[in-house]
Amino acid sequence: MRIKLLFIIALLTTLLSCTNDSTSDITTPANNSVTIKYSADIASIISSNCLSCHTSPPVNGAPMQLTTYDDVKNAILNRGLIDRISRAQGAVGMMPNGGTRLPQATIDKIIKWQTDGFVN
Ligand code: HEC
Repeated sequence: MRIKLLFIIALLTTLLSCTNDSTSDITTPANNSVTIKYSADIASIISSNCLSCHTSPPVNGAPMQLTTYDDVKNAILNRGLIDRISRAQGAVGMMPNGGTRLPQATIDKIIKWQTDGFVN
């Protein structure tokens, strides 16, 4: 009986001590308390995925540049940027054009940047 009780206590202690102390949680987009910023989050995403065409001046048939804060904000508000990056892999008009769809966490970051009010 005593052994059974000890076992239950040990089991409970193990379960309760099982917390997630990973610091990577702080930067995941699912953490709504962290504000997404152009300078810290968005500029690098655009730079590595879009500027090969949407540079200044744009190349490869891209209709506009995405090199500044205003360019990217304007493309979200007036050029359907979020719709384009959210399309399925291989769908017509998906961006990056002819490339691989961005990871969903990255797309969510850009959506949250808009929701957060386009912080620079
Ligand atoms: C390989 C070149 C290339 C890359 C990389 C690329 N684009 Fe494009 N983009 C184009 C071309 C060409 C068009 C025009 C054809 C079209 O509208 O589908 C375009 C059009 C767009 C449009 C629509 C503009 C309008 O007014 O109709 C948006 C928004 C856009 N791109 C965003 C992006 C974003 C965001 C990225 C990065 C995630 C990206 N693109 C990466 C070539 C590219």
